[in-house]
Amino acid sequence: MTRTDSVVAIYPGSFDPITLGHEDVVHRTLRVADRIVVAVAHTATQSKELLFTVDERLEMIREVFEDEGNIEVTSFSGLLVDFARDLGAHFIVRGLRAVSDFEYEFQMAQMNRELWHEFETVFLTPDAKYSFLSASLVREVSRLGGDISRFVSPTVLQRLEEKHGE
Ligand code: PNS
Repeated sequence: MTRTDSVVAIYPGSFDPITLGHEDVVHRTLRVADRIVVAVAHTATQSKELLFTVDERLEMIREVFEDEGNIEVTSFSGLLVDFARDLGAHFIVRGLRAVSDFEYEFQMAQMNRELWHEFETVFLTPDAKYSFLSASLVREVSRLGGDISRFVSPTVLQRLEEKHGE
């Protein structure tokens, strides 16, 4: 792993779409890292029905963090370990909302370390008010006409409304 003066974290995920819980994890990461790269994966481990294209997700995330110079937004294909190594990142960060997240996260962290022994995963817990929040629930509630304005940034809310033809 390359060491540089500034500490760089990668926050990988599907972000379909980015929620206030994700945003909270990004800002918490910047308490322990100088720079964070929010990385939208072209390939997710758990198969899911995606609502937004990778480009749409990137646009939304860039809009959310547009004024924050230490937050970079990109996408990656292939293995996360390869992306992290190429970038010279010091660790990846994942949010842990509840014990139910642990098994999946633990498996991924261990597999990633098998693939690259220097790989470090740091788990951060979002604010308790986001502990129930997931992108899949946001998609579903939005699709069924519920109010999700408390759970996503205005730009994401607008995109969801456009998708669902409101
Ligand atoms: O938000 P998600 O869908 O839970 O994020 C999962 C993600 C994207 C971090 C994971 O699927 C991933 O790392 N995908 C890249 C491909 C890869 O490296 N797979 C092996 C993981 S052990």
